[in-house]
Amino acid sequence: AAKPGTAGLPFSPIDPVGRYVDDFTVPDGYRWQPIIRWGDPLFSSVPAFDFEGQTAAAQAGQFGYNNDYLDIIADPSGKTGVLVTNHEYVNPEIMFAPTSDPDELRERSEIFKAAMGMAVVELKRGRVGDPWTYVVDGKRNRRVTVETTFELTGPAAGSDLVKTTADPEGRWVKGTLGNCAGGTTPWGTVLSGEENFNGYFAWAADTPEQARYSNRSTTSTETGWERYDERFDAHDPGYVNEPNRFGYIVEIDPSDPTSTPLKHTAMGRFKHEGANVTIAEDGRVVAYMGDDERNDYLYKFVSKGRYTAATSTSARKKNMRLLSEGDLFVAKFSGNSPAGEITGAGDTPNDGAFDGTGRWIALTRNGESVVPGMTTAQVLVYTRLAADLVGATKMDRPEDVEPSPLTGKVYLALTNNSNRGITVPVDETNPITGNRYGHVVELTETSGQAGETFGWSILLLCGDPAVTGYTYFAGFPKELVSPISCPDNVAFDSEGNLWISTDGQPSTIGYNDGLFRVPLEGDQRGNVQQFLSVPREAETCGPVIHDREGLVFVAVQHPGENGAVGAQTSLFPDYVAAHSGDRVAAPRPSVVQVWQG
Ligand code: FEO
Ligand code: CA
Ligand code: CA
Ligand code: CA
Repeated sequence: AAKPGTAGLPFSPIDPVGRYVDDFTVPDGYRWQPIIRWGDPLFSSVPAFDFEGQTAAAQAGQFGYNNDYLDIIADPSGKTGVLVTNHEYVNPEIMFAPTSDPDELRERSEIFKAAMGMAVVELKRGRVGDPWTYVVDGKRNRRVTVETTFELTGPAAGSDLVKTTADPEGRWVKGTLGNCAGGTTPWGTVLSGEENFNGYFAWAADTPEQARYSNRSTTSTETGWERYDERFDAHDPGYVNEPNRFGYIVEIDPSDPTSTPLKHTAMGRFKHEGANVTIAEDGRVVAYMGDDERNDYLYKFVSKGRYTAATSTSARKKNMRLLSEGDLFVAKFSGNSPAGEITGAGDTPNDGAFDGTGRWIALTRNGESVVPGMTTAQVLVYTRLAADLVGATKMDRPEDVEPSPLTGKVYLALTNNSNRGITVPVDETNPITGNRYGHVVELTETSGQAGETFGWSILLLCGDPAVTGYTYFAGFPKELVSPISCPDNVAFDSEGNLWISTDGQPSTIGYNDGLFRVPLEGDQRGNVQQFLSVPREAETCGPVIHDREGLVFVAVQHPGENGAVGAQTSLFPDYVAAHSGDRVAAPRPSVVQVWQG
């Protein structure tokens, strides 16, 4: 029996949903509805979604593909607001019917550019607490695409490592790529992580610096951009640095659709999952960031300047420069149990816990490199190599990492790592050989939020406890929890409960991905309960928990990803027939709201 849920969101957990089910499933007493879907027009000048008549011009004014990070930011009235999302990547096989027509292939490459990036969409509703609807022609509506101009900020801006033929200044970058998770700042802007940017370039892996970001040379990409746009051919001497201009945290001001979004080099370059900020005791801004690659690292950025708690335009402008100047750290974890007790099979060490201490190792201090043999620009552009040199701890794919707004403790989703125990040894922080189901680490800063020491323990060792004996749920009886695998995004409700969304359950525990609540305090600590399940082949992204209003929002990413047009595996969210007369349908990534009703 379920204990009463979070204020405004009481629920009994749903049963896990099998991997071939094409349904969006919510708890008894709840309803769901998309707010906006791929292809929905943001402007009245733009045509409605037409699967067979897609154009790049239309897509640039429509909601993009594969929504990932999500926030729903209400204005003070509570009756208007904005939805901000990332559009991480495209699924060509299910976005279009097959073609070999060269003109059509070229147009599609432009559609891909327009379908990626970010979106800002105005919302409205009749009463506070009602579900939202989106506003066509909202004055803040905006699409950011692979052609939108960004300003590079921070110490590596203007350095030789980021100059190209088209941008000899090294300060103006067209586009953002692979935008995965993110975070909303206390000053109202949205941060977004450029994650798998390497896949969009014909890649030269000729140097150690290039190879550390993509381990093999390639001559073609799925989007085909390198065939039509020279900047995506990194073998071209004029554009060998173009990939160095991606892999950053970007910042966008959703209140001003004319503003130039920023890319912050001071926060380092890697496969940024996202960034979440909190304000330290002394007013400096602290950002936590994961590098989502097997055996890569957890990072922290501390600003030089201090946050101004004011909503004026000038305060916002000042706050929007906080992430341009500061110091970058990488985490080194130490276990407190003998190495011999970490078997790789998940046996609990003799002290009863996978836990220990850690240090944040500086890569820059006072904004300058402290890594031997590397300049400041090199540290910020080839950050992975800098972290390698200082002996940071290789982790099991750091995804979202977020501080609790109530306690300041930091929660780190480690999604999985097939190489653990194979290319790198198990350790107390990453203790499972081949870590198939992932885990969640709780990190407690021990010398202030901006300090350089921490304690840590494993909160969850994920998996299906009916199948996998070593699973661990902070000591909560495992026969009572929902099975969970491959934690990816995290969020908090107003009472400080952690919410986790997953990416990878179908292929690991055989259930569709979903959204789960986990209390962190009291006798329910560790009681993982599933709130919703997404359709077949989709990933659950961007959870937003407005429990005081009884509303939950998720971005449903890549539904039906393994299907093909004419043989769809998902028809989410409209569930119209695949072929209805001459109409062809496709699954549409969508932002969904869930409410009681
Ligand atoms: Fe795009 Fe690390 O998930
Ligand atoms: Ca221990
Ligand atoms: Ca993710
Ligand atoms: Ca993921």
